[in-house]
Amino acid sequence: MIFTVAIDGPAAAGKGTVSRAVAAHFGFAYLDTGLLYRAVGAKNGDPVQAARSLNGEDLARGDLRTLEAGQAASRVAALPDVRAALVDFQRDFARRAGGAVLDGRDIGTVICPNAEVKLFVTASAEVRARRRWLELGGDAAQVLAEVHERDARDMNREDAPLRPADDAVTLDTSDLGVDEVVSKAIAIVAARIAKRDA
Ligand code: DC
Repeated sequence: MIFTVAIDGPAAAGKGTVSRAVAAHFGFAYLDTGLLYRAVGAKNGDPVQAARSLNGEDLARGDLRTLEAGQAASRVAALPDVRAALVDFQRDFARRAGGAVLDGRDIGTVICPNAEVKLFVTASAEVRARRRWLELGGDAAQVLAEVHERDARDMNREDAPLRPADDAVTLDTSDLGVDEVVSKAIAIVAARIAKRDA
């Protein structure tokens, strides 16, 4: 079956958790597209060349989850040629046999505008900063400032800015537990599969 679940949203909203759970539940493959931008941002030299020559080794580095790597990713992600270099890989992944979940910022709007399911997973900046702080530590005020900075850059860039697709379902995780959000996401995907198979 070819079936794409596009999950977008800001940093630390819980996209990865929801995506992994949905992928595991339906046996779909999962691609964390933020990791592509993180790997490009972490490479030395010209980011466009880095994006064009990205390989498995780049994606396996152990230092891609830090706050610094997130900021570097957000900066290179504003470059249209970097984004263009990563489009085909993401689209091929999305249409692979067996179903796919992709999470990022522009999956439902640009990469897979025809995705069978589009979710926008979000939460308040304060809640997201607190989650990042619990995960990575550091200075809480600084973490919040970085969340605001990254949101602003990701939402205001010219090319493929972060925004919900018109037909995306928004799941706000500020006041919901992980289990509730995951159940909602699974129910939405299950309903869409049932409709398709009807
Ligand atoms: O999801 P993340 O925090 O790992 O993403 C890191 C950065 O990469 C994010 O701030 C913006 C960029 N990004 C993007 O522009 N488009 C995507 N589809 C995924 C991530």
